Amino acid sequence: MKGIILAGGKGTRLFPLTKVTNKHLLPVGIEPMIFNPIRQLLSAGITDILVVTSKEHMGDIVNLLGSGENMGCSFTFKVQESAKGIAHGLSLAEGFVNGGSMAVILGDNILTHSIKPHVDEFMEKKSGARVLLKKVGDPERFGVAALDEEHKMIIEIEEKPKNPKSSYAVIGVYIYDYTVFDIIRILKPSDRGEFEISDVNNEYIKRSEMTYGVVKGEWTDAGTFESLHYANEIMLTANNKIRVDTNKAESANFFY
Ligand code: DAU
Repeated sequence: MKGIILAGGKGTRLFPLTKVTNKHLLPVGIEPMIFNPIRQLLSAGITDILVVTSKEHMGDIVNLLGSGENMGCSFTFKVQESAKGIAHGLSLAEGFVNGGSMAVILGDNILTHSIKPHVDEFMEKKSGARVLLKKVGDPERFGVAALDEEHKMIIEIEEKPKNPKSSYAVIGVYIYDYTVFDIIRILKPSDRGEFEISDVNNEYIKRSEMTYGVVKGEWTDAGTFESLHYANEIMLTANNKIRVDTNKAESANFFY
């Protein structure tokens, strides 16, 4: 399985912190934000990783990450010319993925527990898609999953609904088979002019090819001042380590 980190976008909600640097290079705990998604992929055994980012900050990202040699992985980089949405950023990965499956992580998503169990579960079938959910107090900020919990099914995902049908946020970790690129090709931009990842996920739901899991531990995005503050709190407490199982905190291999 290949890994994709989407680190494009403009980071406008964090201006002026993002005036001269990319959001994903801001500090979270003792490391740059993007190290958490990298650690997530490595913890799931995924070492072939594509990083998609905007052209303005590609140089800084490459300077920080290099080839991946120091981290035990291999990085490929791709420029997203303009922030046309998460699904658009993902479409740039088609050649890199080359017919296999992929774990996609948004570069501003921070988790204390490894995504490994979800990757392993997907790999048992290797087809369709899997999204990860977390119960939150402010679901209207996210994609929200309406669930049929009895049958362990997602009925629908609504992007930033005014009246959320549940308190389960769809977090920025998505596992897909290769058909995701065919789905992206038929997408239309949303009212805010973006190619939405929730539209991709709803297509998998329509095809009855979507599974979900609920993540353990803490999760947050880090795209607003409040959530960036919270991300710092949880990562400082964890010393930027990720838990691979519930009993053991993995030692953070230092990449630097
Ligand atoms: O954090 C989880 C949420 O992320 C989900 O619940 C939502 O369903 C999903 O749409 C997304 O919502 P946001 O409004 O928080 O997404 P945002 O535009 O802030 O983008 C999140 C990350 O995605 C960002 O850190 C970089 C990447 N991105 C985003 C855009 C719009 C790209 O790489 N390219 C893009 O064009």
